[in-house]
Amino acid sequence: MRRAIIRGTGHYLPERVVENSWFEDKLDTSDEWIRTRTGIERRHFAAEDERTSDLGIRAGRAALQDAGIPAERLDAVIVATSTPDLTFPSVATMVQAGLGMKGGFAYDLQAVCAGFVYALANADAMIRAGLADRVLVIGAETFSRIMDWTDRGTCVLFGDGAGAVLLEATEAEGSSADRGILATDLNSDGQYRDLLYVDGGVASTGTAGHLRMQGNLVFRHAVEKLAETAHRALDKAGLAPEQVDWLVPHQANLRIIEATARRMHLPMEKVVLTVADHGNTSAASIPLALSVANAEGRFSPGQVLVAEAIGGGLAWGSVVLRW
Ligand code: ACO
Repeated sequence: MRRAIIRGTGHYLPERVVENSWFEDKLDTSDEWIRTRTGIERRHFAAEDERTSDLGIRAGRAALQDAGIPAERLDAVIVATSTPDLTFPSVATMVQAGLGMKGGFAYDLQAVCAGFVYALANADAMIRAGLADRVLVIGAETFSRIMDWTDRGTCVLFGDGAGAVLLEATEAEGSSADRGILATDLNSDGQYRDLLYVDGGVASTGTAGHLRMQGNLVFRHAVEKLAETAHRALDKAGLAPEQVDWLVPHQANLRIIEATARRMHLPMEKVVLTVADHGNTSAASIPLALSVANAEGRFSPGQVLVAEAIGGGLAWGSVVLRW
């Protein structure tokens, strides 16, 4: 059977780094509160003239370079984002042009913080079905553009950035010993739309709007649903939680990550953490974490990775892959 394996990773973070202390004279908050409640210490914010597509192009280019594969050989680009440059065209087509691709196809996918997991599942399905051989999957966000800077419950949590992985088709046996994506598990439940949403949009206000979140309720759903989806994906892959080498979670809150690891009986040494330096970069957080850890040489061929995320919708899911 065909499997999608990761050939390369890349990421880009905007130059401007903002420490927690930056918020202290603007809001009733403190570095101490943000650190202890979320694990976040700093985040990157895009420059005024820097757009989501700019971040995505840089991350995509880095992944192509890491893989040693030129852009002309790509069949498709998928960009997971909730903060596109424009209503249309898609960020993905802008990335396609920016990378110098003249062929193939490109589209955006929107599942908020679960966007990258959804995009990986999409790319995996296309590769296994023979629709594409090489797909560049990017998560790119500029959440700083949809923050309400007077809301201390949200604006301290998010950051900007982009990460990318290059998936390539390979022939495999069809067993859990194969390299590549072994299983995916996607879920959503629209009855929870009011827990986490943006209060604007094309067909409602005609504005981009600002992010609104009932953080403590989202927190409870996250702790319960993330371990559940990870276990389901592992079951589908025919693997047990003790066979997991690395958990690569969505980086929203250190306490959610710790609770999920506990429920999966994984020690924190097996968890990739970037939340302290990046904050929550929504769909970019998992590919950023993958790329940072890969650049540090932390993954070895044959190791089992689980990525999981939850976000607005609610939408959540996970991917199990062998590096
Ligand atoms: N500084 C100081 N105090 C604050 C701040 C702040 N920045 N933010 C909130 N507080 C206060 C609240 O007002 C509240 O005060 P009160 O008790 O006087 O009313 C108190 O802290 C406790 O608030 P909670 O919301 O209950 O705090 P909690 O421990 O739940 O932490 C947080 C809040 C960090 C938002 C947490 O709930 C969280 O991480 N939630 C999940 C976020 C997430 O994973 N989102 C999904 C992905 S995002 C996406 O899809 C776009």
